[in-house]
Amino acid sequence: MPPSPTDASAVAVGPLSIATLLEALTRQLRQAGIQSPAADARHLVGAALSLDRAGLLAERDRPPTAAELAAIDPLVRRRLKREPVSRILGRREFWSLDLHIDASVLDPRPDTETVVQAVLGHVVDRHARYTVLDLGTGSGCLLLALLSELPAAIGIGVDIRHDAAACARDNARRLGLADRALFVVGDWGKAVLGENVHIMVTNPPYVAGSEIDTLMPEVARFDPHVALDGGEDGLDAYRALAPQVAHLLRPGGIAAVEVGQGQASSVAELLSRHTLAIAEVKADLAGVDRCVVAQNRVGMRSETG
Ligand SMILES: C[S@@+](CC[C@H](N)C(=O)[O-])C[C@H]1O[C@@H](n2cnc3c(N)ncnc32)[C@H](O)[C@@H]1O
Repeated sequence: MPPSPTDASAVAVGPLSIATLLEALTRQLRQAGIQSPAADARHLVGAALSLDRAGLLAERDRPPTAAELAAIDPLVRRRLKREPVSRILGRREFWSLDLHIDASVLDPRPDTETVVQAVLGHVVDRHARYTVLDLGTGSGCLLLALLSELPAAIGIGVDIRHDAAACARDNARRLGLADRALFVVGDWGKAVLGENVHIMVTNPPYVAGSEIDTLMPEVARFDPHVALDGGEDGLDAYRALAPQVAHLLRPGGIAAVEVGQGQASSVAELLSRHTLAIAEVKADLAGVDRCVVAQNRVGMRSETG
């Protein structure tokens, strides 16, 4: 029988050990155009064998068992189809929180941590009883990161997808934050229109519809389109959100809005049409303007700093 595409015993050079298996899988992933083949091979083999990096090193010279090879094979096949490691393993670290993710939610990005940093930079008293609203919560990453930093805050996460809200709720429960977080299903702020919050965050879909198919396969094939598609110019969600933000924020409250590359000035302009003043445009670690922070100036008495 010909070897399966991930049959490491067929592709490894020399006697098969965990080390040569990792080398073989790394080569195979690299040849498939995957950008971080060594790390991905390590994560997948580590997950299949329940070994962390140190465990893999400690056992590097022993041969893998047949059962272990059988456990690794389906994971590598999925990666060869460009499914991200985070989706294969069903988890993603965000702001040092271990989040579960499933097919209903965006795989949280490190860039989105810029939104958390921006909010914390505008908060003067981390122990105040703030209310936080996260529109388009997905996995709940933004709301849960903020609740983890603001121990007296409570928050609401909204998503249009029932299954995303359920995923976020499950993350809140597992992180011990469920008693301070409520997740509701709705169309942006319409489900919470009576609310008057101190802090609003959102990372809406902002990719121009025609560009989605040009993104990396890991994104285009595996992130939900409702989490990506920002309409013709990528700005549809911001147009819907901008008037709601002003109504949902209490005077002095702040909104931190993630934006795509090159969108900061357009989004700032959309927000400024309402009663919002732009307080900051914060760049991510790559130097890309990633987060527009706006403050509600109506009847202003700053409560967040
Ligand atoms: C870019 S993802 C962000 C998810 C998460 N906040 C994050 O940063 O990883 C956008 C989210 O907005 C949700 N969404 C899209 N349209 C929506 C709408 N009209 N109302 C509420 N949520 C919406 C999507 O389901 C998705 O979870």
